[in-house]
Amino acid sequence: MSPTGQPITVCLINGDGVGKEVIPAAARVLEALNLGIAFTHAEAGWECFQQHGNALPDATKAAILSADATLFGATSSPSTKVAGYASPVLGMRKAFDLYANLRPTVSMPGSPEGIDLLIVRENTEGLYSGRERREGDTAITERVITVRASERIARYAFQTAQKRPRKHVTIVHKANVLKETDGLFRECCLRVAAEFSDVTHDELLVDACAMWLVKDPRRFDVIVTTNLFGDILSDEAAGLIGGLGVAPSANVGASKVAYFEPVHGSAPDIAGKGIANPVGAILSAAMLLDHVGCAEAARRVESAVRRTLNDGILTRDLGGNASTERMTTAIVERLG
Ligand code: NAI
Ligand code: MG
Repeated sequence: MSPTGQPITVCLINGDGVGKEVIPAAARVLEALNLGIAFTHAEAGWECFQQHGNALPDATKAAILSADATLFGATSSPSTKVAGYASPVLGMRKAFDLYANLRPTVSMPGSPEGIDLLIVRENTEGLYSGRERREGDTAITERVITVRASERIARYAFQTAQKRPRKHVTIVHKANVLKETDGLFRECCLRVAAEFSDVTHDELLVDACAMWLVKDPRRFDVIVTTNLFGDILSDEAAGLIGGLGVAPSANVGASKVAYFEPVHGSAPDIAGKGIANPVGAILSAAMLLDHVGCAEAARRVESAVRRTLNDGILTRDLGGNASTERMTTAIVERLG
């Protein structure tokens, strides 16, 4: 039950590769909280495409719509064009207008202390606008930046910063070169910044930001940026706290639809071996709990993860030898 007494429905989509291992692990943790969550299951991804000819079937969209939130694993996307295939991740973001991709990076046991930053990534346009074409021996991708999308992501970032202790936003762009697209993004962010007298801000070019993330990650609170830059910077940030195996994310928009997923992909190199780190998926489940109003349960999950890592129960990517199942059991045991 949610705090309002309504039963919570969570749609689980494993997807491909390690998604099939980490989503069941996260579901085990959610179940162990005894919140009376009702689970539904749906399919998406490359295998789903191979079976049904559609990577994001209508039945899956319907299941996402009728759930309070969705927990998603990962998909394997081919690096070459496959007729009829479209990325379900981009499809979900577009279909439900999930315009904000939230990627927190918080110090973990074993990583440098004092890191607590949140990347707020525009999720619907930029270089992922899907406008790509070949003209003879030239390939062109259009980078689309609109006032509407830029202002709303900036507003989301500033509103989020308002609720955080440091109340600071760093606007990240490359307006010195991309004068039109990032010039517009920057202008929109600065206009929104002026609406928030209680939130401070600064700006950084994306290449300098990449350097500062490594050199002094503690200087960052909220980072707002465009789609591709946010994708790259958030993987870089994950590297500061143990890697992709521990990084969670949320995709949210104006409606109640939201989905939560580890930042990592389908990890074909380790899939099926039972060694994937479930922490990214489990912390994504904690973000989901916050979204559906179960903040206390979310904190229980986060602290169980911390205690597990502190106790030295680590998967291979973190330097240990615990299996996905061992790590998940240890986290469940520490839910308190
Ligand atoms: P990846 O994130 O799948 O893997 C990168 C590296 O991190 C690999 O060495 C992998 O073993 C490791 N890793 C990832 N998740 C891990 C976990 N839970 N525990 C331990 N180690 C983990 O990225 P990669 O290899 O670039 O892409 C593989 C496939 O995933 C591609 O088809 C790509 O399109 C897809 N992908 C899907 C995403 C999504 O569904 N949102 C996001 C990123 C990639
Ligand atoms: Mg990525």
